[in-house]
Amino acid sequence: MKKGFMIVCDGSNGAGKTTVIKGVEQYLKDKGIDVILTREPGGTPIGEKIREVILDPSTPEMIDMTELMLFGAGRAQHLQQKIIPAIDAGKIVISDRFDAAMFSFQHYARGIDLTIIKTINDLALNGFKPAMNIILDLDPCEGLKRVKSRGEGLDRLEVEKQEFLVKARNGYLAQAALAPETFEIVDASQSKEAVLRDVLAIIDTLLIQHQLAV
Ligand SMILES: Nc1ncnc2c1ncn2[C@@H]1O[C@H](COP(=O)(O)OP(=O)(O)OP(=O)(O)O)[C@@H](O)[C@H]1O
Ligand SMILES: [Mg+2]
Repeated sequence: MKKGFMIVCDGSNGAGKTTVIKGVEQYLKDKGIDVILTREPGGTPIGEKIREVILDPSTPEMIDMTELMLFGAGRAQHLQQKIIPAIDAGKIVISDRFDAAMFSFQHYARGIDLTIIKTINDLALNGFKPAMNIILDLDPCEGLKRVKSRGEGLDRLEVEKQEFLVKARNGYLAQAALAPETFEIVDASQSKEAVLRDVLAIIDTLLIQHQLAV
């Protein structure tokens, strides 16, 4: 059986990841392509428990290394339990965030040494790489406005200072500049329809590359 592949949708909080992923899922299903949606932190029962610990706003005392290792632990479980089996079964896996977010938030924003993050990430991924990271690029101020208008509370990372969120945004752009073959930037300040159109153009190219176009 032809293998599937993994696409990551990432970017600032409130950039429109969940919205666009739903549109991509529908697009692929309409083509008869098997797709599974997942997210990080999370994705598995163990990962979802880890997510609760990472994002809990009642524990601001969490130290950087704890946060980083929790991300790494969740990713190792996610990859082995869910992502690899799905790809082997010919499915397209779409993840709402993955390792690019860890580099953006923990390295570029929090300033944790790149080698430390890379070491933990490499242990979790063991050579695996998503086929593409689609970065929805948006001024974090706008993203936060969107999150607030959604009417839910803010999590531990969303209440970070504006300066932190700007550094994280620039971190995504820096990673994309370093690895243009596995990163695409989409202007998320556009309308929902325009964002989805740009993302689907990227998906179409990936389907052709992986000989899954129908
Ligand atoms: N292109 C857009 N223009 C205006 N509003 C948008 C756009 N895309 C999404 N929204 C709205 O902004 C809010 C945040 O969108 P969404 O939940 O998809 O973002 P997200 O990136 O998944 O956020 P989070 O980081 O919190 O998971 C939602 O209310 C959504 O309807
Ligand atoms: Mg979301």
